[in-house]
Amino acid sequence: MKGSLVSALAALVAVGDVAVATPMTPRDDALAYSPPHYPSPWMNPAAEDIKYAYDRARAFVSGLTLPEKVNLTTGVGWMGERCVGNTGSIPRLGMRGLCLQDGPVGIRFGDYNSVFPAGQLSAATWDRVLINKRARAMGEEAKGKGIDILLAPVAGPIGRIPAGGRNWEGFSPDPYLTGVGMAESARGIRSAGVIATAKHFVGNEQEHFRQAGEAQGQGFDIDESMSSNIDDKTMHELYMWPFADAVYAGVGAVMCSYQQVNNSYGCQNSKLLNGLLKDELGFQGFVMSDWQAQHTGVASAAAGLDMTMPGDTTFNSGDSFWGANLTLAVLNGTVPAWRLDDMALRIMTTVFNTGLEPPLPEINFSSWTLDTVGPIHASVGENVEVINQHVNVQSDHAPLIREVAAKGTVLLKNEGGVLPLNKPKFLAVIGEDAGPNPRGPNGCPDRGCDDGTLAMAWGSGTSNFPYLVTPDQALQAQALEDGTRYESILSNYQNAATRALVRQDNATTIVFVNADSGEGYIAVDENLGDRKNLTLWKGGDELIKNVTSECANTIVVIHSTGPVLLTEWYDNPNVTAILWAGVPGQESGNSITDVLYGRVSPGRTPFTWGRTLESYGTAILDKPNNGGGAPQDDFSEGVFIDYRHFDRATARNPDDADAAPIYEFGFGLSYTTFEYSDLQISGGAVREYTPTEGETIEAPVLSEDVSTDPADYQFPTDIRPIEQFLYPFLNSTDPEKASRDPKYGQTAEEFLPPGATDGSPQPLLRSSGQPGGNPQLWEVLFTVSVTITNTGDVEGDEVPQVYVSLGGDDEPVRVLRGFGRVTVPPGESVVFKTDLTRRDLSGWDVEVQDWVINEHEKTVWVGSSSRNLPLSATLEFDEGTYE
Ligand code: NOJ
Repeated sequence: MKGSLVSALAALVAVGDVAVATPMTPRDDALAYSPPHYPSPWMNPAAEDIKYAYDRARAFVSGLTLPEKVNLTTGVGWMGERCVGNTGSIPRLGMRGLCLQDGPVGIRFGDYNSVFPAGQLSAATWDRVLINKRARAMGEEAKGKGIDILLAPVAGPIGRIPAGGRNWEGFSPDPYLTGVGMAESARGIRSAGVIATAKHFVGNEQEHFRQAGEAQGQGFDIDESMSSNIDDKTMHELYMWPFADAVYAGVGAVMCSYQQVNNSYGCQNSKLLNGLLKDELGFQGFVMSDWQAQHTGVASAAAGLDMTMPGDTTFNSGDSFWGANLTLAVLNGTVPAWRLDDMALRIMTTVFNTGLEPPLPEINFSSWTLDTVGPIHASVGENVEVINQHVNVQSDHAPLIREVAAKGTVLLKNEGGVLPLNKPKFLAVIGEDAGPNPRGPNGCPDRGCDDGTLAMAWGSGTSNFPYLVTPDQALQAQALEDGTRYESILSNYQNAATRALVRQDNATTIVFVNADSGEGYIAVDENLGDRKNLTLWKGGDELIKNVTSECANTIVVIHSTGPVLLTEWYDNPNVTAILWAGVPGQESGNSITDVLYGRVSPGRTPFTWGRTLESYGTAILDKPNNGGGAPQDDFSEGVFIDYRHFDRATARNPDDADAAPIYEFGFGLSYTTFEYSDLQISGGAVREYTPTEGETIEAPVLSEDVSTDPADYQFPTDIRPIEQFLYPFLNSTDPEKASRDPKYGQTAEEFLPPGATDGSPQPLLRSSGQPGGNPQLWEVLFTVSVTITNTGDVEGDEVPQVYVSLGGDDEPVRVLRGFGRVTVPPGESVVFKTDLTRRDLSGWDVEVQDWVINEHEKTVWVGSSSRNLPLSATLEFDEGTYE
């Protein structure tokens, strides 16, 4: 094909779904395989929710030059400008580069911003409204700093492995609960006029081996990142499920993940990006790479990547797989013009659809210094000016932060009504986790240490504290108000002094302990992001035992990024109460005090508390298992993670106490008691499911008669190039020289799979149709209602949970399919209602390649946890209607 030449670096195509002439490593055919899915789906102008923005974006992109379009897709390089990621600009139209910034608990690297409770703790509120408000507040703060794209929320990791380092950034190992978290967060962030990013798509379940380079730095001898090997059913029913919710809710961006899925890298995996995300889920936003997760040029474009971040091949290399190489690839036809147009259209549609308008608001902070004056181009220290205006964006978010962390705190044990506290005579508070970090709340870069109270875990999902209320401060303030004697020992190792204090008469002792984790580029105490085990850190178990040896009223508070093993002491009678306070953010002390003193009703655990690490049935793959090749992590447990696994173990062997959890998913005590009654289910007249049929439109090419002469795309003479900064321009009129690619000259046909450049109308998948998939999946089939009565003496919040047994071989005993949080005054009742959609009652049929309601009987269970389900009923479908 004339002029069809490979751009620089395009030949670096990894193994997997992309047919390659010279794969980087030979593929062992026994390894899991990701099938090709081409061409990359272009936008659907008839998709819901985008019409106005699509038309505007189409007009906007049609007026752009080739380099201007490329600039939308390519970051300017690591630390090239003020945000953690910045796209190129379009100065002619007054559009500055887009500002992308972490992250999941608030703004990273800023000042005068809030630190919110982690997503996991927000999930423990089981409160949709609060999750939405939290996200909106995060969006407002981002907006106030000039951030356009917030790199949150997180559904990958979902929490397959309890020791997974970044589980706290996400919500819960249950896909339904995480799906609600994703949808409400996407809506909340967007409602503040900021683009939300659902990340990391998909299967990014552990830190070990997520990037070969990082692993090499840790001493592992591997030359490819790990592969998460996930079967089709598990992909749909577990890992992709919450992303579908995010897409349905209109999330603007998706970040593809570092590791491979079925031996094809997340950011060039055509099955994932083209097939599942854009074709099946009908995602109309744009896909950005995780930072340095792009490994190829043309191949990743063909596989559905729309934006490369931070733009350079490796940080500060000055080279890009895209930038000038994408310009060249479009000029020579290896990347079809329609593919670049679609990238630009997706980005600009999302920009307009979020209410962003060029000229975009000023960026008033810098990620790279808190000094007022500094370089715009921090990577090379150029263009020094005022870069931090120190804008206070905290607004009135503190009470919300306090409320979310308190309402998410889970009361796991409360013997003899020891809680809530009421003016205790003497309060002893023990443990480093109650006090400050001697280096200050922001003393450890990216919070990469576990000193003082754990209010934030570590990694890119962090934020600078504007202040941190420690438990010691808040509890002491409460004690002073109440006339309570108060003493604290903020160390885990003052054994004798601790014993001497807590043995005194009238002592109510609160022991604070923790377990931390984070992102893989930082290791803390040899925890390479993932936790080495599930035990408490810094001798927490010994500390608890030391206290309980002397004090009969010991309350344990755990700050942690997931479950820890309570096995050694939870049933000690001297442990009178246990609370899990997660990763709470800046109001930590106030939040825990609110719960301890009964001012706030606590939450429910969003994961299972097992007796042993082994009892979870999944573990971190911490040793390479494929020679020097990509470690192979087979997700062979399928959909059976967390409670689904524990429930199956109990069903198989009810007498195996070790296999049973200590506290099950969804569990949590309250300061009052509730009764469930009057389960009613309406609906059941199910319309027949109509698979989607037909074809897409032809791929639109937005700019006709564009010059393909490299001479027209040379570096402009009136721009002073910044070193390392990435530009879309060519530096030679000879394409081969401009590419600096020794393999220049290969044709698209030689290395791209069949169909990759085909812009003709494509058949629609039966499971597709609108953002979220076939719209019928969201039809309500049944409505479940139940009466909840507060049978205690105080007002309290109950979290009614609806589970469904879908029936069939090798299916979970039951799965969560509805929940709510209701406040009930003493002696009163409320009616709680929730809908069951077609998707809620379907399973993914790998033969049909669609969601199907199987013919097995379906039971609905309602109660207060995954194992306390007093009410149940069988669903009555109108005969024949569900086939
Ligand atoms: C890598 C992390 O995986 C991702 O979550 C984050 O958004 C980027 N770094 C940017 O900091």
